Amino acid sequence: MNVLGLMSGTSADGVDAAVVEIHGTGHRLRTRLKGFASSAYPSPLRDRVLRAAESGTVADICHLHSLLGEFFARAALRAIKVTGLAPHQIDLIGSHGQTVHHRPRPVSEPPFGKIRSTLQLGNAAVIAERTGITTISDFRSRDLAAGGEGAPLTPYVHWIQFRHRFRARMVVNLGGIANLTYLPAARSLDKIQAFDTGPCNMLLDGLMTALSNGTQHMDRGGRLAQRGRVHPKLLAHLLAHPFFAQSPPKSTGREQFGQAFIQTILRRARRRSLTDADLLATCCRFIAISIAEARRWIPSDIHEVILGGGGVFNGTLVAELTQALHPLPVQPMDQHGIPCKAFEAFAFAVLAYQTWHGVCANIPAVTGARHPVLLGNIVPGRGGRSVCS
Ligand SMILES: Nc1ncnc2c1ncn2[C@@H]1O[C@H](COP(=O)(O)OP(=O)(O)O)[C@@H](O)[C@H]1O
Ligand SMILES: [Mg+2]
Repeated sequence: MNVLGLMSGTSADGVDAAVVEIHGTGHRLRTRLKGFASSAYPSPLRDRVLRAAESGTVADICHLHSLLGEFFARAALRAIKVTGLAPHQIDLIGSHGQTVHHRPRPVSEPPFGKIRSTLQLGNAAVIAERTGITTISDFRSRDLAAGGEGAPLTPYVHWIQFRHRFRARMVVNLGGIANLTYLPAARSLDKIQAFDTGPCNMLLDGLMTALSNGTQHMDRGGRLAQRGRVHPKLLAHLLAHPFFAQSPPKSTGREQFGQAFIQTILRRARRRSLTDADLLATCCRFIAISIAEARRWIPSDIHEVILGGGGVFNGTLVAELTQALHPLPVQPMDQHGIPCKAFEAFAFAVLAYQTWHGVCANIPAVTGARHPVLLGNIVPGRGGRSVCS
């Protein structure tokens, strides 16, 4: 099958689209990335997405659901074109959507018990209508319904792609939020551990946006951070956040580390007269240490670390992380055959393929779900075209 994966993470930088050729059954898959294209959100759209995530009205959310459906559909069609294919040559789309809210901590709601919720926008009906391709979306809800956190879901694909017979590996994704996956050597799915380690690009991007009065949305290459000096007191304060002491399973997002968190840091930095460069340097070290210290929850037999996500392009962050993990070898995913920026989109292509073939791809030991589930909702493509034929 040719499957197209669509992803926009908590960074809300834009939609990544990967076309993947997938063969195989069960948990034995062969994959080949055929094409990849990122479609950045225009700045006003990104602002609307971030505003909606923090304080959107029902009307905003409702409208964005359709609007992002259109944007995801265009991102898909663009990636198909870049790959040199036509839409009818794509059998299936797996679209993660844009998370605007994620509440993994249960809220007690008698008489129903504990309720968890998550919301990804980007209407799959619009994607299926514009592309004509059967689209699977809303991957997290079924795991939540089964008592899990609905996240993280990519560890299954880390296992499919990076498991090794003799070496235990740790995969770290430097997205808006950072997460890690522990892949034991030659072990089954239920021995995998994975969880969010805390904020990552979301924090750095948020600071850059505030410090530049909205003119810059990232510290490109980590160049500003590279010029700064780490402030030990602010660093200690950041690392004292209760999220880091919480044991897995755990996942997080803008609800904990969004604007309110960023504004608190900015106030503290101003009080201590930190330069912009010092503040970013401190936050890069904070992210690196929070990831390195998260190893306390996993076994210590790791041979190597595989890095993915847009944060790999932040040289200061990667240097800090490499130092924090020393002497473990740290390798970007590109060395393992998949471009860092493409992995998450690639992952949702694989997850869609598994759902289509009736293979459960949540890992209950990771998400906390009571049992394995089939992920996602299926919206048929044009004319109910059978993707099996
Ligand atoms: N050249 C770069 N220099 C520094 N940071 C970058 C660069 N390219 C991407 N990034 C960071 O990566 C983020 C996007 O990473 P991504 O993996 O898409 O995260 P998410 O899954 O949260 O959307 C950007 O918002 C930015 O912070
Ligand atoms: Mg992104």
